[in-house]
Amino acid sequence: MTTPITVVDDARAVALTGAARIAEAVSSAVAARGVCFLALAGGETPRGCYEVLARPPFSDEVPWAQVVFFWSDERCVPLTDPASNYRLAKETLLDRVPVTPDSVVPAPVDAGTPEVVAERYARALDRVPGGPDGWPRFDLILLGLGEDGHTASLFPGDPVLEERSARVRAVRASKPPPDRITFTLPVLNAARSIVFLVQGAGKREALARVRSGDRSAPAALIRPTEGRVEVIADRSAAG
Ligand code: 6PG
Repeated sequence: MTTPITVVDDARAVALTGAARIAEAVSSAVAARGVCFLALAGGETPRGCYEVLARPPFSDEVPWAQVVFFWSDERCVPLTDPASNYRLAKETLLDRVPVTPDSVVPAPVDAGTPEVVAERYARALDRVPGGPDGWPRFDLILLGLGEDGHTASLFPGDPVLEERSARVRAVRASKPPPDRITFTLPVLNAARSIVFLVQGAGKREALARVRSGDRSAPAALIRPTEGRVEVIADRSAAG
């Protein structure tokens, strides 16, 4: 099965289309269950999308107070560090829309070693209702794609790709900063919906590997058990 892909003109169109998908997923989850469990992506790509969500019409129309925010991975740096995925989302979105403060759940990066941070964050996922197979089931998980085919902080060849019991694991990444925590594949694949945001010619090879089902690319292992996955990519990345 090839991953459904929506090809758009440019980075701005990725941001706009991504924002529309997020707004749609949030509104339908809240309409159905009164709450939306959303895991945000890290890296730079989502910046434009978060900025679009922080402006009308999305800033006014999305039921932000009913969203519970997590991160699909995080760097083990202070939340105020420029490399923090939480900081990116806070500055571009969370400080600009009416979220419920205790529904923003960053990784507890100051709890200790990356292993301790991973364990604590795994417990925080108790807040997310379990799906049919018992894993925390997010309504939507946003992901990016690395040039080497990684996603979240699941990097090629890392034993964490075989993890089938822990929800969150600490990893040493090849992309700086090295110390990170990441959702594991069972959590990612338990989601109702996964959206990849991909832009730029640098991602072309990785995206082609994902689309061809090359399992050496961790992003190609994202196959929600009972859910949907979509790639939103610009022409530069989609080739
Ligand atoms: C991270 C991300 C990572 C990212 C890709 C793409 O914390 O670095 O989770 O998986 O999404 O590396 O990064 P860019 O969007 O910066 O290209």
